[in-house]
Amino acid sequence: MAKLIDGRAIADNVYAELRRDIAMLKSDGITPGLAVVLVGDDPASRAYVRSKDKMCRDLELHSVKLELPATTTQEELLARVEELNRDPNVHGILVQSPPPKQIDEGAIVRALNPAKDVDGFHPSNVAKLVIGDDSGFVPCTPLGCQRLLIESGMEVSGAHVVVLGRSMIVGKPLALLLMRKATGANATVTVVHSRSRNLAEITRSADIVIAAIGQANFVKADHVRQGAVVIDVGINRVDDATAPRGYRLVGDVAFDEVAEKAAAITPVPGGVGPMTIAMLMSNTIKASRQQSH
Ligand code: GUN
Repeated sequence: MAKLIDGRAIADNVYAELRRDIAMLKSDGITPGLAVVLVGDDPASRAYVRSKDKMCRDLELHSVKLELPATTTQEELLARVEELNRDPNVHGILVQSPPPKQIDEGAIVRALNPAKDVDGFHPSNVAKLVIGDDSGFVPCTPLGCQRLLIESGMEVSGAHVVVLGRSMIVGKPLALLLMRKATGANATVTVVHSRSRNLAEITRSADIVIAAIGQANFVKADHVRQGAVVIDVGINRVDDATAPRGYRLVGDVAFDEVAEKAAAITPVPGGVGPMTIAMLMSNTIKASRQQSH
C-alpha cells in the first residue's frame, strides 16, 4: 500500500513560512493584496474563488473579490482588469478560468499587468518560464505539484516524469518547470495526452506519474509500474446519491487500485488542491515584494 502524500500538511508548512514573509512585509508598511475575479456562477469556480478569498483573510492579506454577472461583456471585464492593474493596493490579479463564452480569455490575460499576473498565464511570464528567468510567475498548480514532490522527499532530478495532459494551466507549464536546470527539477519529462499512442506503455515507464487530464478515474493500475510515485491533479465531480450534495470529488486516478502499486500517492481531495492555493498566496507575496522595490 502506497504512502499518502498529505497536501494539507505540506501546505500548512508553506503557510508557516508565508506568515513570516507577510510579517516582514507588513513591518515595511506593505500588505500584500490579491484580487480574484469571477465572471458568472459556475459552482466549481465559485467554490475555488471562495476558498482563495478565505485564505487571504486567514493570512490577513488585502483581498478583493469581484463577482461579475455571467452577462458581463469583454469591454466591461477589460475595464475592471485595468482598474485592478492601476490599484496600488492590489499586487496580484487572478481571473478565474474558464470565463463565459462571450469572453476572449486570451485577450483578458494579455491585458493583465504581467507583474500582477500571479497565475503565470501572461505570455511574458510563460516566456520567462521557458527561458528560466526566476523573476516571472509560474502557474500555481504546477508549482504545487513540484513542492509536494520536494517536501515529501521524492527525487525529481534524473527521474522520468510522465505528465498526462497538455493544458495551459497545468500540463504544459508543469513539463517546462520540471525539466528546468534547477533544484527540484532536472527531470526527464514526457507529456502524453488524448491523442498519444501507447499511452499506458509510456506511463508504465515513469518514475513519477502526474495526472492532469480532467477525466475521473482515468489512470488505472495498468498505467503505473510497481513503486512509482503518483500525483493526481484532477478534481472531478461524480454523481453520488449517498453523498450530502449528491456528488463527490474524485481525481484523475483510480485511487484504490493505483494505491496498491504505487510507492506514494496524493489523495483527492487533500493532495494537490491545498497546494495550489498555497502557491497562489506565495506568488502574491512575491508580487508584492517585487512591486515594492
Ligand atoms: N481554473 C482552474 N484552475 C485555475 C487557476 O489556477 N487559475 C485560474 N485563474 N483559473 C483556474
